[in-house]
Amino acid sequence: MERPCAKLHNSEMTQQELDGLRDILTTRQRPGRHLEIGTAAGGTLCEMMRAATHRPPFVVIDTMNYFANQREIVEQNITSHGLPLEQVEFRVMRSWEAFQDSIQTRESFDFILIDGTHKFRYVMQDLHWAGLLNPNGILALHDYTPRLRSVKWAADYFLANNRNYHRLELAGSLLFLEKTAPDGPDGPNLLPDPVASLMHPLFQFENSVRKRLGMETTA
Ligand SMILES: C[S@@+](CC[C@H](N)C(=O)[O-])C[C@H]1O[C@@H](n2cnc3c(N)ncnc32)[C@H](O)[C@@H]1O
Repeated sequence: MERPCAKLHNSEMTQQELDGLRDILTTRQRPGRHLEIGTAAGGTLCEMMRAATHRPPFVVIDTMNYFANQREIVEQNITSHGLPLEQVEFRVMRSWEAFQDSIQTRESFDFILIDGTHKFRYVMQDLHWAGLLNPNGILALHDYTPRLRSVKWAADYFLANNRNYHRLELAGSLLFLEKTAPDGPDGPNLLPDPVASLMHPLFQFENSVRKRLGMETTA
């Protein structure tokens, strides 16, 4: 099935979510790198670039196989909005691989949007990026909804175990957290990967049952 955004070049977020994103980016303009994990057609990326009028550098991490010619479509989308392509650095790879590179170079970010794969184990892995977020930076997580318990559970676990992240706002299913203080010396407290791997099939099973029963899911 073709993804509508492949043709329409639009964001996969709702208007309420985009409004929340715009508010955060316009009211808290920070100069450091802004990261989007999972860009689809780049619709949300364009909205973020427009909102961040101070022109911070953007990094996009995506495997670019969501639909045919994804990279070209994202680039066209940026230029057709009159936005500068050179403001965006593309890293075409899995987010976990990109994280290994970023941690080596001690990269840091002022804003991180996690919206890649929504499968439990991978959401848990993507939360490692929080360790590269500067204090006072914003961590945004898309699809935080009871309809997608993999993301909700991962985010709730993260919040319960990392008191230096404060829940700012929920716009639709887009959750905004602020990092109020540095993490401990070992980074954020995260569920160990072997435990996340064991739990992963439970969330997959629930999601497939919901789909079979015609119940709404977002993934
Ligand atoms: C839900 S879409 C992103 C929607 C986009 N943020 C928006 O608001 O329009 C998920 C994206 O994540 C990418 N993706 C999936 N798994 C990934 C992974 N492990 N690493 C990097 N990107 C991934 C897909 O190629 C796809 O472009």
